[in-house]
Amino acid sequence: MGAGRLAGRLPGELTEFVGRRAELARVRDALEGARLVTLTGPGGIGKTRLALRVASGAGRAFDDGVWLAELGGLRNPGLLVNEVARSIGLSDRSARWAVVSLADYLRARRVLLVLDQCEHLADACAVLADALLRGCPGLRILATSRHVLGVAGEVTVPVPPMTVPAVDARRSRQRSRIGALRTRRHAPGG
Ligand SMILES: Nc1ncnc2c1ncn2[C@@H]1O[C@H](COP(=O)(O)OP(=O)(O)O)[C@@H](O)[C@H]1O
Ligand SMILES: [Mg+2]
Repeated sequence: MGAGRLAGRLPGELTEFVGRRAELARVRDALEGARLVTLTGPGGIGKTRLALRVASGAGRAFDDGVWLAELGGLRNPGLLVNEVARSIGLSDRSARWAVVSLADYLRARRVLLVLDQCEHLADACAVLADALLRGCPGLRILATSRHVLGVAGEVTVPVPPMTVPAVDARRSRQRSRIGALRTRRHAPGG
């Protein structure tokens, strides 16, 4: 995680978010109807960007916060609960958290938890998600994973490869024309 960002806070976008209108709508709809939504697809397809985009627009529905647990760097499934506790601001790395205490904390709260990159910890994520969802009625989870987690009630949204709609292409051509004009205007002696 980059310096200057608190654990669990959603990161700002460093590049323009492109397209994905239909997928954004699909994920938002899925999250309204289900308490665990998993975005699936191969690495690099755009799962994380899509999840973060949906999560950052979902704040109003979750009074107690939208939190991101970035699991890509976590190798030990035994540390998953700790990592999630840390991501919702509960502990530093040294504290030990049990699922029941995490569930106690979340029981009366309205929280959206983004579990990003679950694939290498899929079993541990499935067990944790199942326990938390059963124990915490105000919790929703948006997960990204190469494959479905296999939890009861999970809704899967497969993420397709990006297409560039004609309108986006046209806009970006316009932008590059404007950019070229500006460069010419500001060129020394030009
Ligand atoms: N809708 C999008 N608009 C702009 N860039 C995107 C979009 N989706 C993905 N990317 C970029 O493509 C790369 C891979 O996306 P990412 O969400 O990390 O994929 P995944 O999580 O499936 O591995 C990243 O650099 C990301 O910023
Ligand atoms: Mg990802």
